Amino acid sequence: MAEPLIFRVRAALGRVINPETGGNIIAEGAVQGLAADETGIVRFALDLPKTSRAQSESVLAAAKAAAEQVEGVASVSAVATAHGVTQKPSARGHSNPFGLKTKPRIEEAGESLRDVKCVIAVASGKGGVGKSTVAANLAIALAALGFKTGLMDADIYGPSLPTLFGLSEKVKTRDGKIVPVDAHGVRAMSIGLLVDEDQALAWRGPMVMGAIRQLISDVDWGPLDVLLIDTPPGTGDAHLSLIQSKLLSGAIIVSTPQEMALADVRRGVSLFRKTDTPIIGVIENMAWLENENGPRQYLFGEGGAERAARELDAPFLGAVALFPDLRQASDDGRPISQRDHPAASAFNMIAEKIAAIIPQA
Ligand SMILES: Nc1ncnc2c1ncn2[C@@H]1O[C@H](COP(=O)(O)OP(=O)(O)O)[C@@H](O)[C@H]1O
Ligand SMILES: [Mg+2]
Repeated sequence: MAEPLIFRVRAALGRVINPETGGNIIAEGAVQGLAADETGIVRFALDLPKTSRAQSESVLAAAKAAAEQVEGVASVSAVATAHGVTQKPSARGHSNPFGLKTKPRIEEAGESLRDVKCVIAVASGKGGVGKSTVAANLAIALAALGFKTGLMDADIYGPSLPTLFGLSEKVKTRDGKIVPVDAHGVRAMSIGLLVDEDQALAWRGPMVMGAIRQLISDVDWGPLDVLLIDTPPGTGDAHLSLIQSKLLSGAIIVSTPQEMALADVRRGVSLFRKTDTPIIGVIENMAWLENENGPRQYLFGEGGAERAARELDAPFLGAVALFPDLRQASDDGRPISQRDHPAASAFNMIAEKIAAIIPQA
């Protein structure tokens, strides 16, 4: 399969040098909101805080030209933001496309993610497709690749990080902030460690938003290369508040292969697209049952999520088979990504693709 367009554009942008710093614009983390749609339209913003206006314009022109050269690109629309000033997350957009009455003041919460280079929501149309399992194992695999990685379990209705990571610690605070737990090489915090699960089940919109805001603003995330956010299934209040926060670098959608689940993939992709959140890609989980001695068994049909990704022109990041050991490891709180196991290899391959979009500097 050809490499997804967005990755090829990213590689081309990685060859554009900012003469003021001598570094390339990808390594500097200057390229933001990079998106490529099904018709070959590419969009991104260039954030060059330490660069003069004139210099910014010339780097922008070079970046546009580089992206236009990439095969499959029809047009490039790019803007330069911030010149000569440091742009804080709170200074980013404030649009409210959902017409909600109580607009959460989540932009301010974003201050505490100031030193996080890349924030990725892990979403799924349905519950039980393995979203949390995938998020947790990918976080471990990214950490093993050398990225400072965080995992925020924001699934209000079914927080599973405490089980997956075997966490039972009491939440600690320092200087009025919640200290994330360091487990399996990952900086982790779960809504399940902050509130009683039964209580959270009854929450409505504004409370969900409040909880998400707290997970962002009250937790001392510190500097991270990448923060994965395990979101509740579907596209509800938690997603809307994350999207509104303008903190997301992109979203990953996890699905099982059957047609029923794929309708939800389309819905998820469309929500994120409508709100200008780039789709980093689709992962197919429980893709087949791995048998030691027999052929693979495609319990839910073959390759459905990959087909849906192709239809939607979203990158396909890879498939993870159904492994009884993975289920066992998850229940035991001993993540499989830390072992020599085919499931770990599958997560590593996907993590390497995600690594390609994490700013390097
Ligand atoms: N690839 C897989 N192989 C075997 N079991 C899996 C796999 N992915 C998830 N599971 C199991 O399926 C159940 C649901 O997974 P979970 O990650 O909690 O889903 P979600 O977060 O989407 O609700 C868990 O028991 C988990 O251990
Ligand atoms: Mg879950």
